[in-house]
Amino acid sequence: MRGKIAVLPGDGIGPEVIREATGVLKAVEERFGHEFSLTYGEIGAAAIASTGDPFPENTEEICRSSNAILFGAIGAPEYDNNPEARVRPEEGLLRMRKSLGLYANIRPVTTYEDLISLSPLKEERIRNVDFVVYRELTGGIYFGKPSFVAEDHSEAVDTCSYNRNEIVRIATLAFEAARKRSSKLTLVDKANVLATSQLWRKTVQELAAGYPKIELEFMFVDNAAMQIILNPAQFDVILTENMFGDIITDEASVITGSIGLMPSASVGETVSLFEPIHGSYPQAAGKNSANPMASVLSLAMLLEHSFGLAEEGRTVREAVAEVIARGIVTEDLNPTKFFTTTKVGSAISDIILSKSLAE
Ligand code: IPM
Ligand code: MN
Repeated sequence: MRGKIAVLPGDGIGPEVIREATGVLKAVEERFGHEFSLTYGEIGAAAIASTGDPFPENTEEICRSSNAILFGAIGAPEYDNNPEARVRPEEGLLRMRKSLGLYANIRPVTTYEDLISLSPLKEERIRNVDFVVYRELTGGIYFGKPSFVAEDHSEAVDTCSYNRNEIVRIATLAFEAARKRSSKLTLVDKANVLATSQLWRKTVQELAAGYPKIELEFMFVDNAAMQIILNPAQFDVILTENMFGDIITDEASVITGSIGLMPSASVGETVSLFEPIHGSYPQAAGKNSANPMASVLSLAMLLEHSFGLAEEGRTVREAVAEVIARGIVTEDLNPTKFFTTTKVGSAISDIILSKSLAE
């Protein structure tokens, strides 16, 4: 198989974790006889520094002419602490999502038996948790107009807006996912207060008629935030709007032991994008200490979703589980005995290539 992948390392620890993911991709190419050509593009603070634009035209071109996008992270502290910054790195990510039509962000939450003790939750609550969140990614309050700060800074406005079509297209993906899993779908919303949430409920309820075997339940987002802590095993597929999805997936990512493990796929109209859900973690940048596993697991999703390479994806996932079992992990997973980002990445590649590990 041949394919074209756009690689956007971005900011902070992005370049380090992406380097490991591309190393693992090389191992996959070698073992399975594939050939992928990689084209690198700039995004975020790195792109602002060199072009003034967090999502330059050239990067968009690279994305559009590729079969898939592998993305690292975005964000830099000098912008976070400056509310008056004229342009922000995050704007690059949001424009990329919108312009490439990446309307569905898929975030799986899985547990590893070897890491159960790292969970902030009691073992019996976290064991066997396995669910996936379908987060709407190109609508809602992130993109609603009007959005402004009054010139005299006395007021600011954001608008949350959704239309039926925006809900139908992601809800259909979530229903299909539920059909392939254990057939339960939870719509998370705030329909007791918000008009947009009422539209979500009505639209999803109508679609449910086409999926009679799927158990559909509704949950208010405040309750969902509690339930993810109290009884996360109750969930199978969660469907939700953009902002609620942003918040509950950060929450969901830490209950498994480390935010450094959670990959995601953003799919939509054309090319799909794969990224770890952790951010740019600038404090760790350049230290060779960040956990590359979420980025490597994002690569596994890429191989499956964009190229249909199921065995390759499974092999990558199994190699990650294997290095975890052998204790070759970064500091977030074992603060007393830990390895570098590069070591963890090369251990995953070695397992894929069935090499014995020099420890
Ligand atoms: C995420 C991030 C982004 C978001 C930020 C960086 C704009 O938190 O991908 O979850 O809020 O969507
Ligand atoms: Mn987020």
